[in-house]
Amino acid sequence: MLPTKLRSGTPVGCSRCPGFVCPFVALALLALAISSARLTAAATGGKVSKYLYAWAGAADPSLARDSLFVFSVRPNDEDFGKLLHVIETPYNGLEPHHCRPSVDGRWLACSCMLAVFSGLPSILFFSLANPAKPVLLNNVSLPVHSAVADEFVATPDGGFLVTMMGNTSGWAPGRVARYDSDLNLLGEYPRDLRVLESAPGFNPHGIGADFKRETMLTVDYLEPASSLVGNTLTFRNTARLWNLTDMSITRTYVLPKTQHSKGAMDAVAIGDTGGYYFTGGNGYLYYLNATRGKKATPKIVFDVKTRQTVSCILQPFRGGTRLLMAIFSLDRVFLLDTTMPRKPKVLDVYKFPKGAGGHVVRVSKDESLVAVGTYFVDEGAIGQIRYPGDCTVRFLRLDPLGSRFLRGRWPYSRGPVINFTELLPGKGGFRTHGVAFL
Ligand SMILES: *[C@@H]1O[C@H](CO)[C@@H](O)[C@H](O)[C@H]1NC(C)=O
Ligand SMILES: *[C@@H]1O[C@H](CO)[C@@H](O)[C@H](O)[C@H]1NC(C)=O
Ligand SMILES: *[C@@H]1O[C@H](CO)[C@@H](O)[C@H](O)[C@H]1NC(C)=O
Ligand SMILES: *[C@@H]1O[C@H](CO)[C@@H](O)[C@H](O)[C@H]1NC(C)=O
Ligand SMILES: *[C@@H]1O[C@H](CO)[C@@H](O)[C@H](O)[C@H]1NC(C)=O
Repeated sequence: MLPTKLRSGTPVGCSRCPGFVCPFVALALLALAISSARLTAAATGGKVSKYLYAWAGAADPSLARDSLFVFSVRPNDEDFGKLLHVIETPYNGLEPHHCRPSVDGRWLACSCMLAVFSGLPSILFFSLANPAKPVLLNNVSLPVHSAVADEFVATPDGGFLVTMMGNTSGWAPGRVARYDSDLNLLGEYPRDLRVLESAPGFNPHGIGADFKRETMLTVDYLEPASSLVGNTLTFRNTARLWNLTDMSITRTYVLPKTQHSKGAMDAVAIGDTGGYYFTGGNGYLYYLNATRGKKATPKIVFDVKTRQTVSCILQPFRGGTRLLMAIFSLDRVFLLDTTMPRKPKVLDVYKFPKGAGGHVVRVSKDESLVAVGTYFVDEGAIGQIRYPGDCTVRFLRLDPLGSRFLRGRWPYSRGPVINFTELLPGKGGFRTHGVAFL
């Protein structure tokens, strides 16, 4: 571990060091900066992100359609933050949700949370043949047993796994759907629903996968149709471990009532460790060591000490040694050191203005930049979920070791906050939920 002063990037007190030492201090700092940069480059294969996609719903359907926004995020470029293209879909009322590119960068998969209630597609795919100007595809088969797509995992072969939160009318059970690299729908799982008998509320939201060990973890969050006006909101508190080889559920964990889970929202694989983190909407971060087979049980390893953590999205990086946790109701992004997965340590906390929110959080390829979509979900007149946040995408910078947020002067002419309320004059505001770097 580096001394705090070096890590924090504050100038080392040259005024107190004898003149002849200063050049050495400067050289040491330079060497440190170079080796940190190398470390970062090595961790990410030397790649940088050039584009940020933001998947957003039109706030006023009479003025605009639900749309995909493409921004330039090329580092050290004067166009940083520039809006390159807006791709209008033919739809309103999709409730644009998460989005993710395939590993080969050919496709962008976008989920549509409320689409099924208006007979619209639950998933839209875009071709990224020209990454600056994606093209909406109309030739991809959609799941037939399930709807309410939520989160994607990009599979190593260039396809996707996607959680489908509900059946085709938005109740239970949902499924996990799998696509191959040409976007052929391979299936909807589990195939045999008898495995759900012990805990029937299969409404998967978060999803993480370990392709080396062929395991996957999904967590059940909420029965989507229950969120519509007139129904009783039904949250789910189950985590399910899968065998990826045959797409079967091998274990189901029901979180104890004493832990007051308010819907298990997100799940991620912790680098290559074989372990997973997931969140329970109760301020707790859970750890599951899936390599322990039958002995694996979820353990609470971190607590933000408030039981009202409406929405919590996770983003691991630096090979699973770091974790970002964005908590909407706290307007905060936590940065944790997860080198020891059972003992995460808080490295930094970024506070947005009160009421801003903060939901989907993603890291750029070189892991120097974080993007946070602050909007969660506002179902409007049809539903009971009203958490709009301030409808911005906010950029945060990370230091080269991923150990703190940089709060100094913002280096680009376009600011770190993209305000979707006033981004397209005459088009009304947009509610941007999913963000993804390419
Ligand atoms: C769907 O359309 C895209 C873009 O035209 C094309 O690349 C792809 O091969 C098509 N897929 C199928 C299954 O026809
Ligand atoms: C979805 O599930 C609900 C509740 O289990 C059931 O009543 C409904 O018929 C299902 N919808 C379809 C299209 O299967
Ligand atoms: C996963 O399923 C495959 C195929 O059924 C089986 O060969 C393998 O042993 C299973 N793995 C685990 C960890 O159960
Ligand atoms: C996970 O379990 C494996 C096998 O039991 C063990 O070797 C490993 O140390 C565990 N990992 C952590 C982080 O506890
Ligand atoms: C975004 O723009 C709207 C309309 O101009 C304004 O009311 C709001 O304060 C802005 N939000 C932020 C975070 O700047």
